[in-house]
Amino acid sequence: MKKIIFDVDTGIDDAMAIAYAVNSPELEIIGLTTSYGNVAVDEATRNTLAVLEKLGKRIPVFAGSAKPLTRGNREGFAKKVHGEDGLGNVLDFEPAASAETQSAVDFIIEQVKELPNEVTIIAVGPLTNLALAIQKAPKIIGQISEVVIMGGAVFVPGNTTPHAEANIFTDPEAAKIVLSSSLPITMVGLDVTMQTLLPRDKVEAWRNSETGEFFADMVGFYLDFYESVNPGIGGCGLHDPLAVGVAIDSSFVKTKYISVEVVTEGKEDGRTVPNPDGKPKIQVCTEVDAPNFLDHFLKRVPVSK
Ligand code: RIB
Ligand code: CA
Repeated sequence: MKKIIFDVDTGIDDAMAIAYAVNSPELEIIGLTTSYGNVAVDEATRNTLAVLEKLGKRIPVFAGSAKPLTRGNREGFAKKVHGEDGLGNVLDFEPAASAETQSAVDFIIEQVKELPNEVTIIAVGPLTNLALAIQKAPKIIGQISEVVIMGGAVFVPGNTTPHAEANIFTDPEAAKIVLSSSLPITMVGLDVTMQTLLPRDKVEAWRNSETGEFFADMVGFYLDFYESVNPGIGGCGLHDPLAVGVAIDSSFVKTKYISVEVVTEGKEDGRTVPNPDGKPKIQVCTEVDAPNFLDHFLKRVPVSK
């Protein structure tokens, strides 16, 4: 079992990724850390607790960054994509549990120090928490087993601007710190996540339990957004779930070992630029076995209490 710290900005695809992760026996989620991104950090924390409650799981949640390292928040966050509540406007209860008092950054540092070379971090929001953790405790860089990031668009266009993917665009300075560190990173970007689409008929098939109903309504909102932006696309991107899939089984993807630089200004702000000769190098996912991954995901999500 891999010990996982799961860094999220919960969001609809984050919610699906949480369900996938907690229902995967290969992973032991030792804590979830939250940040702003799709919604404000307080909302992301609430959503994370609510999704865990729906799934009947008690896992500690640690609230993290409220804004990017050096910039302000994006107006309205990504509520057009994820709904006013970040969960497709389906959230009709306040979670019973609260976040822990320790901060996300301190939790990451503490766990990596206590479990050297045992912790995998899956980060599927802006990279602010991880950047702050390695800035505060640089020694943990050599003690983290693996970092799987959902972010970037290395050989394909962006989804927030023509050049930039949302998680990198939201805090390019943090992404630059993380990607220029010597962390053992696998980058699961739009290069592969836009090939792993979840079709509507699979989502509708979930409607046979209370949990399934919640997930089907929520993901229905996300599907509507994808259709509105790209008519005929035939599904929504399984961005964050694919990062979980790669942490479970790296054979879902093929990778290239290259360096990735982050643009932090100008019209290409947030772009992730490949540099085959640069250093440090990371594993960039370039191909995905989408049918096999989708099949694996659908066997585990959603699962009733
Ligand atoms: O670009 C997709 C990513 O941005 C996903 O992590 C989604 O949840 C948003 O954060
Ligand atoms: Ca996310």
